[in-house]
Amino acid sequence: MSYLTLAIGSGRTAKKAMELLEKAGIVFPDYHSKSRKLVIFDQENAIKLIFVKAVDLPTYVEKGAADIGIIGKDTIMEEQPDVYELLDLGIGKCKVVVAGFGESNSNKKIVTVASKYPAITQSFFDEKGVRIEIIKLNGSIELAPLIGMSDVIVDIVETGTTLKQNGLIILDEIADVSARLIVNKASYATKTNRVQQFITDLKAVLE
Ligand code: PRP
Repeated sequence: MSYLTLAIGSGRTAKKAMELLEKAGIVFPDYHSKSRKLVIFDQENAIKLIFVKAVDLPTYVEKGAADIGIIGKDTIMEEQPDVYELLDLGIGKCKVVVAGFGESNSNKKIVTVASKYPAITQSFFDEKGVRIEIIKLNGSIELAPLIGMSDVIVDIVETGTTLKQNGLIILDEIADVSARLIVNKASYATKTNRVQQFITDLKAVLE
C-alpha cells in the first residue's frame, strides 16, 4: 500500500495534533516533541508524516506534496488554498483580533496595522471602509504598537497573556479559529477510501 502523506505545521498546534492522532490509533514510533526529524512513519497505517512551516502548509497540500494537512483556520483564511477543508479538529482554538491601546484612530487618514495576516487585515478593514497601511511582520507582532511602528495589530489571541503583558486590548474580533483538516483535491479523488478512513478515525476521538 502506498503512503498517505500528512503534513503538520511545526509550532503551537503540532503537539496537540500528535496527541489527537495517537488517540485515533495513528502512532509514529519515531516521534517525540523535541525531535528534529522532519519525516516520520506510521508503518501500520501506511502514513508518512512531514513537518513543515505552518505558513507553507497550504502550498504543500495544494500542490499535492502532501495529501492531507492539519492547519489553523487563520492560515487557511490568509492563504486561501485551493483544497478541501473537511474537518474542524477543535484543537488550537484562538481568535483573530484587532488589538491596540484603545485610543481612537478616527482622526487618522490612514491607520497603520502590523500583522502577519495581510490578506485578512486588508479584507477586514476594506469592509469597514477604513484606509490602512499594512506593515507585514512575521512574529512578535505586539511589539509594533509599543514602539510606535503601528497604531494597531491584527493577530491571533489564545490565552490573552501576550496582549495583557504588553498593555494591549482587543478592539475588534475578526474570527474564531481552530485547526482544520485540509485535503488535496486530486488525492481526495484518487485515495478517497483512505482519506475517508482517516477522517472517520479522527472523528471518533473528537470531543
Ligand atoms: C502567537 C501570536 C501572539 C501569541 C498569542 O505568537 O502571534 O503573539 O501567540 O498567544 P496568547 O494569547 O496565549 O498570549 P507565537 O507564540 O506563535 O509567536 P510569534 O510571536 O513568533 O508569532
